[in-house]
Amino acid sequence: MQFSKSIVEIIKERTSWRTYLNKLIENEPRSQIDKLLKLEDIESPFKNLSGRSRFQLISVPEFDPEENIKIGTYGMIKGAQEFIAGATEKSKYDLENYGYIFEAVILAATDMNLKTCWLGGTFKRSQFSKMIQLKDNEIIPAITPIGYPATRRLKERFIRSIAKAKVRKSWNELFYSGDFNTPINQESIGEYKTILEMVRIGPSAGNNQPWRILKDVNRDMFHFFVKYSDSKRGSIYNKFVRVDIGIAVCHFDLTANELGLKGRWEFINPDIIKPESLKYVISWNAT
Ligand SMILES: Cc1cc2nc3c(=O)[nH]c(=O)nc-3n(C[C@H](O)[C@H](O)[C@H](O)COP(=O)(O)O)c2cc1C
Repeated sequence: MQFSKSIVEIIKERTSWRTYLNKLIENEPRSQIDKLLKLEDIESPFKNLSGRSRFQLISVPEFDPEENIKIGTYGMIKGAQEFIAGATEKSKYDLENYGYIFEAVILAATDMNLKTCWLGGTFKRSQFSKMIQLKDNEIIPAITPIGYPATRRLKERFIRSIAKAKVRKSWNELFYSGDFNTPINQESIGEYKTILEMVRIGPSAGNNQPWRILKDVNRDMFHFFVKYSDSKRGSIYNKFVRVDIGIAVCHFDLTANELGLKGRWEFINPDIIKPESLKYVISWNAT
C-alpha cells in the first residue's frame, strides 16, 4: 500500500472519532476512497482462506427519509454524513480477513486527514444490510463513519473515559519470548520493537487488546494468538477477537514492510504449551 507519510505516524495518529461536521467528503479524497475500496492495493494474508469482501461508501442523505433522521448508530455517532460499510462472504478466516482489510482502509483514511470509528456493535445491521444489499451468504462485521471532525462532544469524551480509550496493556502482558511465562525483552529485538509497539497501540473492540504474540527464541518468527476472555465484561467482546487479530496482523505487516523487514505469513500451529484461553491464529516468519 502507498501512504503519503510513515505508517508509524499514521498508526499513532489514528483515533476513534464520534463527533463529525455536517459536511460531505470533498472530491479529491472521495475519488481516492473510491479507488481504495476496489482493494487492489490491499494484500491480506488471510485472503486465500476467506470468501470475498466488498466495501461501499454510503452517504446518509441516501438513506430512506424515515431512517435518515436517526441513522442507526444508537446515538454513538453524531453529525456523520458518510459511512464505509462492508460485507464478507462467510468463510473460515472471514473475520480476520475483514479486520485486516478494514484497518488498512481506516489507516488510508487517516492519511487523508479524515476521521473514522470502528463500529462492530453499535449500529443497526438491518439498516446497513439494506443499504449494501447484503446477500444470504454474507455478514457485515463492522462499519465506520468517515468524515471531518468536530470537537469531541461531552458524550464522546465520556465514552472514551469509560473505555479507557487511550490506555493500552503493557508489553509484559502482550509479548513473549520462547514460552508464555517469559515476557519479551523489547531492547533485544532491534526493529521488531517498533513493529510490536504498532500492534500494541492498535484499536480493538472494547479496547480489549486480545492479541498475544510469542517470538521463537533463536529466530525472527512471531506466532499470533488471541485471548478469549471469561470475565463478564470481557466476554461481551469475544465475538470481535477475530476481527481484532486481523487489525494486529495489519499493523505488523504494514510496519514490517515499511521498515524493509521481509517475511512470510504461515499457518503452522506451533507445538507450544499455552494457557487454555489462547487460540493460535497465524505466524510471521522472517525470510
Ligand atoms: C472490531 C471493533 C469494534 C468496535 N465496535 C465499536 C462499537 O460498536 N461502538 C463504539 O463506539 N466503538 C467501537 N469500537 C472502537 C473501540 O472502542 C476503540 O477502538 C477503543 O476504545 C480504542 O480507542 P481508539 O480507537 O480511540 O484508540 C470498536 C473497535 C473495534 C476494533
